[in-house]
Amino acid sequence: MIEKTFVLLKPDAVKRGLVGNIISRFERVGLKIVACKFIQPSRELAEKHYPLERREFVEGIGKKTLENYREMGIDPVKEIGVSDPYEIGKIVRGWLIDFIISDPVLAIVLEGPGAVEIVRKLVGHTLPVKADPGTIRGDLSFDSAFFANAKKRPIKNLIHASGNFEEAEYEISLWFTKDEIYNYKRAEEEVMY
Ligand code: TYD
Repeated sequence: MIEKTFVLLKPDAVKRGLVGNIISRFERVGLKIVACKFIQPSRELAEKHYPLERREFVEGIGKKTLENYREMGIDPVKEIGVSDPYEIGKIVRGWLIDFIISDPVLAIVLEGPGAVEIVRKLVGHTLPVKADPGTIRGDLSFDSAFFANAKKRPIKNLIHASGNFEEAEYEISLWFTKDEIYNYKRAEEEVMY
């Protein structure tokens, strides 16, 4: 029941000075920071974070991008030369990797009951323009697929958060060693647990 999840504050969050604002949102709901690292990732680490082998993930990004193009009335072949979701996903993945290695990021492990789902809820929709007010992406960013695709860059949505428990386990072990993850009690655990 007590889960750990992984979040990454991307370079836009760091360079816009939003780190404190974002972390305080996790702290105030009661999630516990059990690991934290400020790091400019290597290309190798970024490649592993967005693994090409996770075909459904790459294809998923491609499908969402195609859907965004369709909504905007843009022909994907004219725009980026391909229309296959996996191929489009690979291109967007390349933009994402270049972006997250371009400047420092803050990697965090958060712990709490149902942490994966709670963090996803606080983070909000992938596209800031569609993210609800009250969420991190909805409150703190305004990027849209329109701007991102036009500039051939990833959507600047401030933060990555593990999508499910298995992804969280993989990402935590990728970014942190066991001895970088701490075990302590937060004051309100007596009331809440
Ligand atoms: P995804 O896993 O679909 O979203 P989320 O971050 O909400 O789990 O996509 C991963 C990242 O890929 C997303 O945070 C931003 C980037 N991305 C783009 O840059 N352009 C796109 O069209 C899509 C769908 C995603």
